[in-house]
Order: sequence, then structure tokens, then C-alpha cells
Amino acid sequence: MIVTIEKLDHFGRGLCKVNDKVCFVEGALPGEEVEIDIIKENKNFIEAKVLTIINESEHRITPKCPYYDACGGCTHQHMTYELENESKVNKVKELMERFAHISPDLVKDMVSGTEYNYRNKIILHGLNGKIGFYEEKTHSVIPIKKCLLVSPKMNNIIKILNKINVQILEVLIRCSNDGEMTLVELEGKVSDIKPLQDVCDILIYNGMIMSEHDELISKIGDKDFFISYSSFFQVNRKVTKKLYDRVLKEVKKKKPNKVLDLYCGAGTIGIYVSDYAKEIIGVDNNGSNIVDANKNKELNHVENISFICDKVENKIDSFTDIDMIIVDPPRSGLDTKTKEYLTKINPETIVYVSCDPVTLARDLGELNNNYEIKSVEPFNMFPRSSHVECVCILERI
Ligand SMILES: C[S@@+](CC[C@H](N)C(=O)[O-])C[C@H]1O[C@@H](n2cnc3c(N)ncnc32)[C@H](O)[C@@H]1O
Repeated sequence: MIVTIEKLDHFGRGLCKVNDKVCFVEGALPGEEVEIDIIKENKNFIEAKVLTIINESEHRITPKCPYYDACGGCTHQHMTYELENESKVNKVKELMERFAHISPDLVKDMVSGTEYNYRNKIILHGLNGKIGFYEEKTHSVIPIKKCLLVSPKMNNIIKILNKINVQILEVLIRCSNDGEMTLVELEGKVSDIKPLQDVCDILIYNGMIMSEHDELISKIGDKDFFISYSSFFQVNRKVTKKLYDRVLKEVKKKKPNKVLDLYCGAGTIGIYVSDYAKEIIGVDNNGSNIVDANKNKELNHVENISFICDKVENKIDSFTDIDMIIVDPPRSGLDTKTKEYLTKINPETIVYVSCDPVTLARDLGELNNNYEIKSVEPFNMFPRSSHVECVCILERI
């Protein structure tokens, strides 16, 4: 069957209509005429794969990664970066309009960085002496020699891991945001640890620190941040500063007295904006993040910030006289109690940083009785994947 693709869906698949049903075509691009094979059909939708491309889109490119088809980590390498950014902006517009009745005009242009060489963290798995990523939806390992998303120094570590005899269960590789310092945390067995010690700055081997220290230091703007191997740190070493600068712009504009930084991770956003608020309280439920947050407070000589290690939903009813609340929850978004108290605390401004526009739209749809949505700005923190980060500014009505 031959079809013409109308647009991309939220996961980067081609969309068209077949038998009056929505049809998702993996790997097809808007405007393309393709011959398809239906692989699944139910009463609401059809899934199909491309057999032949009859008319190719000008946005089609050859994926650079040799593991592209098997790995599943990148879903957008077959299209130009321009189309990827455009389709993610459209996805944010559609979701905001559908679930929160937000005009598409309030959704801004994409803020992006480089399409490759941006990640400061990856986790690889081992099986039978090989290391690599898990194949999509399975635990079989796709052995890799390099990953285009990570920094050159991280790829050098992957090269060494491939050279030594490894029986690795899991290896975490991180680098500082300038790409210069590296950390490896390895669970498993290697024949010789020395080549690894030679290429990384920090090595943690089966829980033992094999280097002088165990924290990376990364700069964002004029602030320095410790990141120990178990703490949260935004993965895009190029776009994080742009995202933090957007939050900073709002804090500079409002000059709030008291700010809550909810889901604060290692305290990075709160510390980044601390010069422009009187007092900041950060909350995160991960002990390692809060240990690092307190170290980061000292490292940057910040005195107007304090941190609480607890679930936001356990603490949210204890705050009063707050002018601004910054929230940066995990993909699941805000829970019901937190949303209820955000409106009870009634700050003048809420800055909502979100890594999932679906839950962001759901939450905005509930907050917009009391808050006016001023803008939603997409940030391409995860190039070559379907994910997109957003910063949304809400002002009390
Ligand atoms: C997307 S990260 C944001 C981190 C930080 N704002 C940053 O920019 O690095 C989400 C954070 O929420 C924390 N978290 C998840 N569920 C939580 C909860 N119920 N209460 C408090 N913190 C939570 C995680 O530990 C993680 O650090």
C-alpha cells in the first residue's frame, strides 16, 4: 500500500490515515510518499513499517551512528536537526493547546545546542565481555565502540573498556560540562584496572574510590558544582546554561524575597539564581543530591540558601510567605497535593521546568484557574531523541 505522510507524531514517527484510522509509520518523514507494510491493526490505529520510499523528503539524512537501527536511544537521526526542532516545537504547541487550552502563540521557538557530543553522562551494560547499550525493550546488549552523543574523552574511556578484558555489570561514565574531567563508576570485574585509571580523573570500582577524590566539578556560568556519581545533574552540557539563564532572567526581573526551589537536585538552580533573591529553600528527596547541594552552597560561598531532604509532598504544607516557586519535577510531573498547595501558598510567580510536556500540559491545565501562563519555552536538551524540556512562566491572576 502506498501512503503520503502528513506529519510526525510525538515520538518522531510518520503519521497518515489508512482505512480512516491513524497510521503510525516508523522512520517515515512528512511529505514522503512511501510503500508500507501493516504490522499491527486494532480498532483505533494502525502501525506500519516502510518498505520503499517513493518520494524522499529533503529533510531525510543518513543516520551517522552505526548502531542507530538496533540501539533505539536516538530516534531522530534520519531527519535534519531543523526538522527535529520544528517537530518538537509543534509537539509542545499541540499538547499545550489540547490539555491546557494554551494558545500556540505563547509557545516560543526552540532553544538548542549542538546535535551531537552533548551528553555528560551515559550508563553502559556488560554481557560476555562486551559493553554497550540495552537493545530497545530488551536486556540484550548491543556492543558499542563509541557513542556520538557523548564527549570525546568519554568515548576514549569506551575505547579503553573495549580493549581490556571486562566482565562488567554496569558502568557509568560522566564528564564535566567543559568535557575536560571524567568520572567512571564500574560494577563488575576487569583484568587490568590501570588503563582505565590512566584515562579518567575519578574511578570508582565496585564501590571503592580508586582515585584521589570522587566528585567532578562542573562550571555553569560563574558557579561551580560538585557532582558525585550518584547525584542528579542535567545531562546536556551545552543547553543547561541556556535553561538556567532563562530561570535567572525571571528571578532578576522579580527580585523575590523568598524562593522555593522544589525538586532541587544538587541545588544547582537555586545556587545559580541566589545572587538575586533574599532567601532560597531547596527540597529534594535524594540524600546524595542534598549532600552535594550543601557542598555546592559552600563551594560558591552562598549564604542565603538552605536545603531540606524530604519529599516535596511531605513538606509543601509547611511553607508561607513565598514570592516565587521554581519546580523541576521528574517526568511524572506534580502530584495532586503539591498542586493544591502551590495555589494555597499563592506565590506571585511559578517557574515550571519540565522534562515531559505531557505532564506539564496536564499540570498547567489544573493551575491555570489561578495562574496566567505567560510563556512556554522549549529547550532541546535531548537532541536526536523525542524528548524535549520546557520552561513555563506562570503569574498569579
Ligand atoms: C529533573 S530533576 C531536577 C534537578 C535540578 N532542578 C537540576 O536542575 O539539576 C528532578 C529531581 O527531583 C527529585 N525528586 C523526585 N521525586 C521527588 C519528590 N517526590 N520529592 C522531592 N524530590 C523528588 C529527584 O531526586 C531529582 O533530583
